[in-house]
Amino acid sequence: MAHRWQNDLTRDDVTPYGAFMNRRQLMAGMAGLGLASIAGPAAAEDLKPNAWDEITSYCNFYEFGTGKSDPAANAGQMTTSPWKVEIDGLVDRPGTYDFQDILSEMTIEERIYRFRCVEAWSMVIPWNGFELADLLNMVGVKDGAKYVAFETLLRPEEMPGVRYPTIEWPYREGLRLDEAMNPLTLMATGLYGKPLPNQNGAPLRLVVPWKYGFKSIKSIVRITLTDKEPPASWNMYSAREYGFYSNVNPTVDHPRWSQATERKIGGGLFAKRIPTLMFNGYESEVAGMYEGMDLSKYF
Ligand code: MTE
Repeated sequence: MAHRWQNDLTRDDVTPYGAFMNRRQLMAGMAGLGLASIAGPAAAEDLKPNAWDEITSYCNFYEFGTGKSDPAANAGQMTTSPWKVEIDGLVDRPGTYDFQDILSEMTIEERIYRFRCVEAWSMVIPWNGFELADLLNMVGVKDGAKYVAFETLLRPEEMPGVRYPTIEWPYREGLRLDEAMNPLTLMATGLYGKPLPNQNGAPLRLVVPWKYGFKSIKSIVRITLTDKEPPASWNMYSAREYGFYSNVNPTVDHPRWSQATERKIGGGLFAKRIPTLMFNGYESEVAGMYEGMDLSKYF
C-alpha cells in the first residue's frame, strides 16, 4: 500500500500553506474527501499526522484496561485471525462473513483524518480502509432500515478489562443510516500503510471523523441493520454526558468540561490548546444531515 503522506513529506516538515494545497491537488479524487473543505494555514498545520508511536501507544480500548498505555500492553493477546463479522438484521444477504473475504471485495484507500476524543485530546491519523457504504451495499440494505448497530468482540480470556463493569460489555455503538452511508465514514483496516495494530482495533474498526472518538468502535464482530436507534455503550452509561449523536461541537460542552478547545497529542506538555472545529472540520460534508435539529438537544 502506498505511503502517500510520507512519500514526499516527512513528519518533521513544517507544512506551508502552498505545499498543503499541492498535496490537496495530488490527493483530489483519491482520498481528498475529508480534505476538500479545509481552508487556511491553520488547517494545514492541523493535518500533519501524528507519529506512529503516538497513535499506537496512547489509546482508549477499555476491554484491555482504562489506562492510555494498557491497550498497547495487553491487546497483543487478542486473536485477530481468523476473524468473522456477522452482518444481520434488515439486509438482503445476512451472514457470517470472513474478514479476508470482505477485504477481497473492497478497495483500500488512505484517509488522513482529524480524530477528536470526547476527553478533549486529538490527533491526526493516516488511516487505511474502505467506505462503510461499500460494505453495506455489498450486503444490500433493506427498505425500512434506519440505523446501523455495531458490536466489538467480547472474549474475556483475552481481554483483562472486561472483568470490570466499566461499561456494559460488549462495547456497542450505532449510527443513523445516512451517517453510515456518508462517504467520510470509514471501516479502517490499517494506519500508515500497515495493518491496524490490535490496540487500535484490529482487524476492523469504525472511523467517523466528525464525531467524538468513542463512536469509532474497535474490533467489530457484528453489524446489524435496524429500524430503531440501537443501544450505545457510553450513552447507556450516562445519556446526560454522552449523546447518541456525539458530533464534535465546540459550542456544546460536556457537563464536566469544555469542548471549545483540544490538546493535540505530541505537542508537548506546554503546547497551546487548539480550537475545536464544528463537526471536527467536516462541516461542509456533514452539516446537511442535521439540518433543523437542535444540536444542543441531540448532542
Ligand atoms: N472501541 C472499543 N471496543 N472499546 C473502547 O474502549 N474506545 C473509544 C473508541 N473505540 C473504545 C473503542 C474511544 S473513547 C476512543 S477516543 C477511540 O476508540 C480511541 O481510538 P485509538 O485508541 O485508536 O486512538
